[in-house]
Amino acid sequence: MHFPLAFLALGLGYLTFCISAPSSTVRSHHVVHEKRAVEPIDWTISHRPERNKRIPLRIGLTQNNLENLEDMLMAVSHPDSPEYAKHWSLQQVVDTFAPTEETVAKVVGWLKVSGFSSEKIKMSGNKGWIQVDATIAEVEELLDAEYHVYKHMETGEEQLSCQTYSVPAHIREHIDLIKPTVHFNHRPSPKSVNKFKRAGDLGKPSSSTGPKKNPVSKPVSSGSIPPALADCDEMITLDCLKALYSVPDFKPKSKDNTYGIVEFTPQAFLAGDLDMFFEEFEPSLVGVRPDIVLIDGAVVQTTNQSFDFNGESDLDLEYAMSLVNPQKITLLQTGDLVEGAGFDNWLDAVDAPFCTFEGGDDASQDGIYPDPLPGGFKGHESCGIIAPPFVVSTSYGQDEASATAFYAIRQCNEYAKLGLLGSTILYSSGDDGVAGNGGLCLNSTGQADANGTRFNPDFPATCPFITAAGATQVNPGSTVFEPEGASEQVIFSGGGFSNIFSMPSYQKTAVETFLKDHPPPYNSSQFNNTGTSRGFPDLAANGANYVIAIDGEFELVFGTSCSSPVTGSFITMINDARLAAGKRPVGFINPAIYSEQFRDAFNDITMGGNQGCGTPGFTATEGWDPVTGVGTPNVSKLLPLFLSLP
Ligand SMILES: *[C@@H]1O[C@H](CO)[C@@H](O)[C@H](O)[C@H]1NC(C)=O
Ligand SMILES: *[C@@H]1O[C@H](CO)[C@@H](O)[C@H](O)[C@H]1NC(C)=O
Ligand SMILES: *[C@@H]1O[C@H](CO)[C@@H](O)[C@H](O)[C@H]1NC(C)=O
Ligand SMILES: *[C@@H]1O[C@H](CO)[C@@H](O)[C@H](O)[C@H]1NC(C)=O
Ligand SMILES: *[C@@H]1O[C@H](CO)[C@@H](O)[C@H](O)[C@H]1NC(C)=O
Ligand SMILES: *[C@@H]1O[C@H](CO)[C@@H](O)[C@H](O)[C@H]1NC(C)=O
Repeated sequence: MHFPLAFLALGLGYLTFCISAPSSTVRSHHVVHEKRAVEPIDWTISHRPERNKRIPLRIGLTQNNLENLEDMLMAVSHPDSPEYAKHWSLQQVVDTFAPTEETVAKVVGWLKVSGFSSEKIKMSGNKGWIQVDATIAEVEELLDAEYHVYKHMETGEEQLSCQTYSVPAHIREHIDLIKPTVHFNHRPSPKSVNKFKRAGDLGKPSSSTGPKKNPVSKPVSSGSIPPALADCDEMITLDCLKALYSVPDFKPKSKDNTYGIVEFTPQAFLAGDLDMFFEEFEPSLVGVRPDIVLIDGAVVQTTNQSFDFNGESDLDLEYAMSLVNPQKITLLQTGDLVEGAGFDNWLDAVDAPFCTFEGGDDASQDGIYPDPLPGGFKGHESCGIIAPPFVVSTSYGQDEASATAFYAIRQCNEYAKLGLLGSTILYSSGDDGVAGNGGLCLNSTGQADANGTRFNPDFPATCPFITAAGATQVNPGSTVFEPEGASEQVIFSGGGFSNIFSMPSYQKTAVETFLKDHPPPYNSSQFNNTGTSRGFPDLAANGANYVIAIDGEFELVFGTSCSSPVTGSFITMINDARLAAGKRPVGFINPAIYSEQFRDAFNDITMGGNQGCGTPGFTATEGWDPVTGVGTPNVSKLLPLFLSLP
């Protein structure tokens, strides 16, 4: 389903107003809708386009009901709700957020008054866009704009663009954006990209979001891996995790269960590493691979091999596949080798309407396909190529500050829609404590800076509609039978408060209790301490000293990168039990895990903190805290609780 290509004829009949207004009057009421703030680097004006050249003008309409999204999600996710687990169909989601009839009528009315006949006006399948074929002269008149053909200095590619455009004042609230206008449908060139970190560089070794090694540690020989639970404070194995979280034996009973792991190219697993790990810990999996879905020309590359290229994928698959064995794992490998991908790209692949929702993906963050760069993927963007898995774990993140609020909110709303459809979306919460990627904090203008002192939270972890997983450790000298602490070896659990998202209702009591009973010794210039912003993470799982097979050796790795796929494995086990009992999967779990009735199913973490930005960070304490969330799961307790819900 490629929506921009599949425009349907629009049945018209509600055009009732403004017919007699002369177009000159309409145009004199135009107001500027969008104006480009800075001219794009690497694109130069080439020439004026031919006046009678026809172009497909696409008008993105304002979406409806987004302000009710949280309530709608709560209705299917809160354990006390009579609608619990009554997930929506994709069509219901499309219809609910589609623009209102009034919006469609007003925009169509404007087009007709401006001289476009009904036959020329088409509507997209997701109801979000209206398309008209028009000449340049007509578009310039309609939008009070002046178009030029721009040329890309590197590739010679041409694009039509204007610097500003206007619409009638009474139409403005019904329009999100119009294309082609001020937007450049192309990522900035590699030269200009280095100036900022974009989501699209996630899989690159430079992104520093993957698991970390202890700089002084050496590879572990197979013979020195301790049997069973002897040294879980020094090396975490599957047995340690099963003991820590009281994981019952897992024998899948449902055929319909799904669990997806997202990886961004060029990050890739090595088959030999998986088998090396399985031979040691889960022999029945030797030779078994994930089901691979290639998104946007992705490849599971083996040309470049190193810790930075293979660490994340090897870790995620070795642990997730082993924990849920023989349940199959779906690998969502995302992005081509040239351009890479951002979070929006895997979301497009599981939900076609998102490809164009609110203007589509952001060329400065995401991969935009077809990719015009030499060697790039020339096919179409992957839109809706698979159904969303019931659980998706993604161990990548970016500084929230490196995304615009528009970008972050559009994407976050999509996670809520996936929750409505019945998926659990897990993200690692970051490895730098209260600091951001690379240990940087924010300066007074809100940018990551070596001299910054403001805490720098991680996105998508700060999105209130995903489940953010922080990291714990078996404290040195302790066993799995003693309480864990927050991870304070090599990495510190990402946690804190969003600078974009406000506090969702499900965590209000937990966060307010934390701020009241344990007020952090930091002021408003260090973090949003109003008690009205989204706190994270939501829960935690061990993230220190994982034994993984990587590039032919066993190594120890650290990170919330470990915590997310392990938590996802537990939810997958719970979903299997629910599916086998004829119930729906758990979907969005946050309203449940913060609820009173689930309190007992988590091991509260009350030791350690998440230092950063020259401070000790926040401190893990009784109840929810912005280091380890509600704590680590006790699967033996979580499972019957979730199974008892409708
Ligand atoms: C990956 O391998 C290719 C081909 O050998 C090489 O050109 C490229 O520089 C490598 N990339 C990195 C980051 O090492
Ligand atoms: C904040 O950091 C950015 C990036 O390093 C820098 O360009 C900007 O000047 C800094 N602002 C202040 C007020 O220091
Ligand atoms: C950080 O502060 C030091 C000392 O005030 C100054 O020399 C340096 O230029 C600053 N660095 C940045 C990136 O602003
Ligand atoms: C704190 O967060 C809330 C909720 O997002 C927001 O309304 C408020 O403006 C923020 N306060 C500051 C000082 O940034
Ligand atoms: C907040 O605390 C920091 C560090 O203690 C201090 O430098 C700063 O002046 C304080 N800001 C306000 C507004 O009190
Ligand atoms: C987890 O729950 C089980 C079953 O109630 C209990 O036996 C076990 O002690 C709990 N584990 C922890 C670490 O509290």
